Amino acid sequence: MAIQWYPETQEFHLQNTSISYVISLLPDRSPGLAYFGRPLALEGRYSRIVRFEDRALSTHQSDLPASFCLDYAPRECPTYGRGDYRFPALELETEAGSPVILDLQYLEHRIYQGKPPLKKLPATYIESLDEAESLTLTLEDGASHLQVQLHYTLFKDHPILARRITVHNEGGQVLRIRRAYSAVLDLDTSNWDFIYFSGAWARERHTNRNPIGPGLQSIGSNRGSSSAQHNPSAILARPETTETAGEALGVLLVYSGNFSIDVELGSHGDTRLGLGINPFGFSWRLAPGESFETPEALIAYTDRGFSDLSLHFHRLLGRRLARGQWRDRERPILINNWEATYFHFDEQKLLDIAQSAKDLGIELFVLDDGWFGQRNDDTSSLGDWEANREKLPHGIEGLARRVADLGLAFGLWFEPEMVSPNSRLYREHPDWAVGSPLSKQTLGRNQLVLDMGRSEVVDYLFESISRLLSAAPISYIKWDMNRQMTEPLSSALPPDRQGEFFHRYIIGVYELYRRLTEAFPQVLFESCSAGGNRFDAGMLAFAPQAWTSDDSDAIERLAIQWGTSYFYPPSSMGAHVSAVPNHQVGRITPLWTRAGVAFFGAFGYELDPGKLSESEKVEIRAQVDFYKAWRRVFQFGDFYRLAGGPAGDANFVAWMSVSEDQSRAVVLAVQTLARPNPGFRRLPLRGLKADLQYRVQVRPAVPVKDEASVRYNEGLRRGDELLQVGLLLGGDGWNGVSRGDFASWLFTLEA
Ligand code: DGJ
Repeated sequence: MAIQWYPETQEFHLQNTSISYVISLLPDRSPGLAYFGRPLALEGRYSRIVRFEDRALSTHQSDLPASFCLDYAPRECPTYGRGDYRFPALELETEAGSPVILDLQYLEHRIYQGKPPLKKLPATYIESLDEAESLTLTLEDGASHLQVQLHYTLFKDHPILARRITVHNEGGQVLRIRRAYSAVLDLDTSNWDFIYFSGAWARERHTNRNPIGPGLQSIGSNRGSSSAQHNPSAILARPETTETAGEALGVLLVYSGNFSIDVELGSHGDTRLGLGINPFGFSWRLAPGESFETPEALIAYTDRGFSDLSLHFHRLLGRRLARGQWRDRERPILINNWEATYFHFDEQKLLDIAQSAKDLGIELFVLDDGWFGQRNDDTSSLGDWEANREKLPHGIEGLARRVADLGLAFGLWFEPEMVSPNSRLYREHPDWAVGSPLSKQTLGRNQLVLDMGRSEVVDYLFESISRLLSAAPISYIKWDMNRQMTEPLSSALPPDRQGEFFHRYIIGVYELYRRLTEAFPQVLFESCSAGGNRFDAGMLAFAPQAWTSDDSDAIERLAIQWGTSYFYPPSSMGAHVSAVPNHQVGRITPLWTRAGVAFFGAFGYELDPGKLSESEKVEIRAQVDFYKAWRRVFQFGDFYRLAGGPAGDANFVAWMSVSEDQSRAVVLAVQTLARPNPGFRRLPLRGLKADLQYRVQVRPAVPVKDEASVRYNEGLRRGDELLQVGLLLGGDGWNGVSRGDFASWLFTLEA
């Protein structure tokens, strides 16, 4: 790993064993991207890769050659107003509203070992100085004295760069930032597919892949959270790129608020990709002497297909973004009472669930919504974080101790950021609600949002939650957030600063997370937002797992977990077995398939064990034992998508995880609809050691000894054969054993 500055050619070369990133100072003294891709030799000089040409209708600055037209230049921090008509990275105006036309020129730079933390925002980190090297490039606009620092960190073991900017007002006048993207990447080719992860409640992060065309394409959120609609992550890939081969660039924003990711195909074969805080409605007042930091963007390159990109993101996010005692620890198998009872429970009902769960081998009981204030439906009490004594006569403390006496850990649901109009908190502090300057506020799930930008709100929540965490043996918190925002106004901000609301809100959320995780390091936090409405890297920095989606149907989860897995590791995906007919789609799937899909995540159950038949209990006990024996591989193994996804057969999905030492692996294959007389299907595996012998076993809950999957696959097989040829599926012919719709096969491999 090296970051070099070559004064004679005015270029920086950031290089590790997987990538080179070459920044060249352009004729206007601004930094431009000369190269991003497989490593180039440090001995070479690459500034000449940047090409310029004088064209009709192009513009140039009076003191520079006519050939230097900003509209096609690859710019690291593009601004509008001097001939670049693509979307900018940075936009500012004066206090009176006049646009500031910037001319950001190189001032100085610093190259150093390590990676500094951000002041208020979560980011990736290092544990020893030799894990990363950083470059800070300082640019200055001579007229306004605005300084912009471009921060780059290169990780030694990943093809990933962390980028962000800080903006400093070194001049004498107040400025207002209208846009400050974390990173812009100008690529000199245009044959890219844009891949992004979109949906809505209960169908989050479905994978979309479209070729880019002329003009601007944008995804983002203006909903106050990163959102179920679009995830703050995207990939540019060559049309021919697959899971196993080809070029792909992955970008991810470490941020949980309003974001934007833009792709613009320029007019001369160039592509601009940019990401950061959504400029829609955003403004930030920057008085003389003040600075603003953007969230961190992670940017990766591979020429080995999507699996390689995902593996690196999983490792970096799992090991150097997630933090705390639970980062590397196996996560407990939990039971959550939400789908078992919704709001209708009392202490005895909960203890019955906990007792049955204990009998099944489950480790953690989680009490969901409905335990506080007068909360018997979703119309009241958010904000009043004290136990409902009618339901829980011994309070949370008494319940948690009784659950502990049964031999289970205890977890509790909160929705800290919300307030019900029908609550003591709202009656006492109506101005703490977002939008309170207005007489009319829009409700979402009958609730309002607390203004997390106010320190007194963060203090109140810290004290209420701490009180419970100190009094009761609580080892897990599910932190929910069940609506999107409206009337984004704060009664604590003056009129000219209302554009700061959304960003201040999310900084307040991070502050509360930081204080709670520091005060209670033993507690495992799971983030949630009506399922996956805030499943992002900002949350992952505090909560090492998140409730992936409210949709727990195994077949729907195939698409959701598939899309989520491009960037986020299995250990981050909360995944539960729920009852059938499924509560979201009414589908009836086999218990084994429900477990098989949920195994590839932070596993649990979300049903009433009292309603299970004896045979279902036997099967669940076997699932729990099996998961415990393979938990490390499922949660922390290298994950590979094998078959399915947007380019695959919609009827067949397969994925696998391999232990770090490659000695153990688990493979899941799911057939959505059964077909008569199916053809054979080879499923080549990934990540194994070619020269090891693996014992392959089929793991149905109740073994079907005669089945083709057993006959064809079980036994000792060499790694090279499994990699090149693979498992054999689909051999159950006219007189074979048909498992019906939604059947699945789970294989274990042990060296
Ligand atoms: C939405 C969550 O995603 C559910 O799991 C559950 O906690 C409900 N909220 C409770 O209101």
